[in-house]
Amino acid sequence: MRGAPRLRRPRTGLNIFPLCLIRPDFIFMSMRNLYCGQVDETQIDGEVLLVGWVNRRRDHGGVIFVDLRDREGLVQVVFDPDLPEVFARAEQLRNEFVIQVRGRVRARPAGTENANLRSGKIEVLGRELTILNRAEPLPFQLDDDTVSEEHRLKHRYLDLRRPEMQARLRLRHQVASHLRRFLDDQGFIEIETPVLTRATPEGARDYLVPSRTHPGEFFALPQSPQLFKQLLMVAGFERYYQIVKCFRDEDLRADRQPEFTQLDIETAFLDEDEVMGLMEGMIRELFARVLGVALPDPLPRMSWHEAMERFGSDKPDLRIPLELVDVGDLMREVEFQVFSAPAKAADGRVAALRLPGGGELSRKEIDDYTRFVAIYGAKGLAYIKVNDLNAGREGLQSPILKFLPDEVVVEILNRTKAEDGDLIFFGADKTKIVNEALGALRVRLGHDRGLVESGWRPLWVVDFPMFEWDDKAERWVALHHPFTSPKLDQLSLLGDNPGQCLSRAYDFVLNGVEIGGGSIRIHQEAVQNQVFGLLGIGAEEAEEKFGFLLNALRYGAPPHGGLAFGLDRLIMLMTGSASIREVIAFPKTQSAACPLTEAPGEVAEAQLRELSIRVRKPVIEAAS
Ligand code: AMO
Ligand code: AMP
Repeated sequence: MRGAPRLRRPRTGLNIFPLCLIRPDFIFMSMRNLYCGQVDETQIDGEVLLVGWVNRRRDHGGVIFVDLRDREGLVQVVFDPDLPEVFARAEQLRNEFVIQVRGRVRARPAGTENANLRSGKIEVLGRELTILNRAEPLPFQLDDDTVSEEHRLKHRYLDLRRPEMQARLRLRHQVASHLRRFLDDQGFIEIETPVLTRATPEGARDYLVPSRTHPGEFFALPQSPQLFKQLLMVAGFERYYQIVKCFRDEDLRADRQPEFTQLDIETAFLDEDEVMGLMEGMIRELFARVLGVALPDPLPRMSWHEAMERFGSDKPDLRIPLELVDVGDLMREVEFQVFSAPAKAADGRVAALRLPGGGELSRKEIDDYTRFVAIYGAKGLAYIKVNDLNAGREGLQSPILKFLPDEVVVEILNRTKAEDGDLIFFGADKTKIVNEALGALRVRLGHDRGLVESGWRPLWVVDFPMFEWDDKAERWVALHHPFTSPKLDQLSLLGDNPGQCLSRAYDFVLNGVEIGGGSIRIHQEAVQNQVFGLLGIGAEEAEEKFGFLLNALRYGAPPHGGLAFGLDRLIMLMTGSASIREVIAFPKTQSAACPLTEAPGEVAEAQLRELSIRVRKPVIEAAS
């Protein structure tokens, strides 16, 4: 894998996970009577029977120390030569051997306690030792944090032995069981929906599965259970949820996987405020119970329009105290065409972004940021360095100053609240490009300059437009999916001015990550057909692709709506992980492959023949 990112081991965070999941009435079976991580002073002089892995073995002047590890933690076991047979066996031990030890618990000699371990005040004097299994030398040491992610994923069963990986997956389990309990209490029922199905339009490419019984035809794996959950509302279940795998063949990033897990929810007879209220209650309770964090009540809401204006993004990271400021109205008449043209254009924007203390940025750093915004289509990155406000023009440093009259400069400094030592960046282009470029720059600067505040900043983004004009395709595309309802008082805009029409959609954003999204749906066939029409989906295509939904809408479909949370993303944030791969037991790499199983793989010719499929080798090679 090219440029395989390395797993960084978070140094913090582990303390927040309650590691012990054992109930007091848990029955230990015959191989042990206690977990290693649970042995403490209360067992002094008692006998324990332990099993686990040799985390480390040390020989100390005729005494052998073994740190024995199981899922609950470590305990130190001591073997001394008084028992020659046991000692000889202990000498054979190597890292990751699986052993069973019977021994007596005793206090550690003064000065050798380990305050970081629950078992740190005691040790177990080993009296019997059974080697249950040997281990070859590991392909990497579990505590080596320089190993490539590819290598870790290839031996994921070893990687998962690391305590931080165990803690993450336990927290994931806790979150899922909390969510299930909450939803059960609220009258939701979990219903499974098919994995072999038809294409669902969430905007990504489908994973296809060839049908043997219908040669030449394919199932699509669901990008989400969207249509099925709507059908369950037509069926009268009223409150549905499912923790469900979704499949999307799209370009992968740190927060995207080709198969990921949603907490998928749908309700009937609730409006958007009620759905959002129920859901934020669930998330608030989750954070309080699992992390001991109190989220605001109610959660803040922001319109899509405001989010784009102030942060250039529909998932603003509110922990970063930088904002975009419109200066287009000041630029209409300036000499500088690069600014005046978008300032005058209906679909243009000129915005400023002040970086406090940015005056110290070097030329090279500014050039790097200019290259960074180019990724988003920006053709340049003008700036003004504010050296000394009292010195007028002399106190400013900028490649564009010569194009700007005094009154414009003064107003820019006012609006951005510039102070000595600041730097003001500018973006001028189509609104979409300026928002994406300065929005991404804002986040990058926040991280580069250590401006990201700590804590949790959740947010509902609401009042999304129904449609966005796609320049390339020259047609409207849905900002959410095509089943999202327009605002009821704006139905007439569908005909007159679809670009102005707002939808009943809402996104849940946490610290700059879109954690969830949903909407109230269209439940009337005529409106659904009108929206399909606007999206360029003709009657025939609609019938072919979504005929079953349109049919269902004819038979008494209730008003309904819901949302889906990305469970992996939520856990990624809750565990402070850098990527969702760190909270998935067996994830795919950035190139959508599994180094462990080596999937995807070739299949036998006979299997292909059975499926009536012939593989055109050169095409596949060229594409990979
Ligand atoms: P949406 O497409 O917004 O909505 O998905 C819901 C949430 O799923 C998560 N998510 C992903 N997580 C990891 N990898 C991916 N490739 C990925 N794609 C999406 C995000 C996102 O917010 N059917 C609608 C929901 C609805 O309208 O009820 C849907 O799937 O956190
Ligand atoms: P130029 O006259 O092309 O050298 O540009 C002068 C300054 O404007 C440089 O700092 C460029 O990076 C910047 N610039 C050029 N195009 C844009 C744009 N579309 N948005 C913001 N800054 C720009």
